[in-house]
Amino acid sequence: MKITVVGAGNVGATCANVIAHKELANEVVLVDIKEGLAEGKALDMWQTAPINLYDSRITGSTNDYSKTAGSEVVVITSGLPRKPGMSRDDLIATNAGIVKTVTENIIKYSPNAIIIVVSNPLDVMTYCAYLTAKVDSKKVFGMAGILDTARYRAFLAEALDVSPKDIQAVLMGGHGDTMVPLPRYTTVAGIPVTELIDADKLDAIVERTKKGGGELVNLMGTSAWYAPGAAAAQMVEAIVRDQKRIFPVCALLNGEYGMKDIYLGVPVKLGKNGIEEIIELKLDEAEMNLLKDSAVAVKQVMDVLDNMNVTA
Ligand code: NAI
Ligand code: 2OP
Repeated sequence: MKITVVGAGNVGATCANVIAHKELANEVVLVDIKEGLAEGKALDMWQTAPINLYDSRITGSTNDYSKTAGSEVVVITSGLPRKPGMSRDDLIATNAGIVKTVTENIIKYSPNAIIIVVSNPLDVMTYCAYLTAKVDSKKVFGMAGILDTARYRAFLAEALDVSPKDIQAVLMGGHGDTMVPLPRYTTVAGIPVTELIDADKLDAIVERTKKGGGELVNLMGTSAWYAPGAAAAQMVEAIVRDQKRIFPVCALLNGEYGMKDIYLGVPVKLGKNGIEEIIELKLDEAEMNLLKDSAVAVKQVMDVLDNMNVTA
């Protein structure tokens, strides 16, 4: 089993490190365009194996995709991260060119790979990879919902002073300020969260979650990596271990939620075939309206990509 992570920056390196620690594959390949970066980080990580006692072999490569041949899962993190004052959408032109080139190389050497996109703007970069890869959309999807839900769960755990392990939640929509947290589907050890927290406190947590990425950009001057890297690795784990886990994932809709031809965050079942099912929640009118608003925002950026002809 071989897993490739493209982009040996903050998110990619963190993701590869988690994958190796969890021994999700016997071979983990890290690729970057910057000379020596992937080789160096891979060597450093490999030297943690005798300390942390794992035997996944990690190697690095500067843009040589022949080393990635036969990968079963590929995580694409290559691209510029957000800087203060930049929206995720500002990144579109540069990152679309990068994601397109990387996807072409991946498909050339691993035509059967399942591709998980992390690069921003997430929903549209996932669409870009799908247009480029020309494979079933069940095998091309994006990571955002696990991260956004993790932020929401972490804030709730803090507010309620309970273990984050006990908080179950789902969050839908695009990876941006229009994301749709769903308090109605949030429970603490099976107890509806609304029974445990005041409405105004919950609203404040929902609002903080929507701006969770920006909060970290403002603190660090670049975007987050520990939680994003771990979130992408959790998706890899669900696939390689065929766990059939239910996660919010950026997936191509084909009539679900009354929408077509749009990549949007929805709950899915993840297993060895990639997306094995898109789960349709019975949203109430207000929730559905929020999802539609989010879809409009994502579609606008998808149209920008279409008009740029990057994937032609
Ligand atoms: P980073 O700058 O630390 O790493 C990006 C790496 O991509 C760099 O090492 C760069 O050399 C490499 N790269 C650029 N062009 C390449 C190419 N053509 N081929 C191979 N490698 C190439 O950035 P970071 O923090 O790792 O973020 C990566 C991406 O992930 C950004 O677009 C960021 O916005 C996004 N992101 C998405 C999240 C999500 O929830 N979906 C969360 C956090 C970050
Ligand atoms: C995040 O949510 C910026 O997408 C990045 O941390």
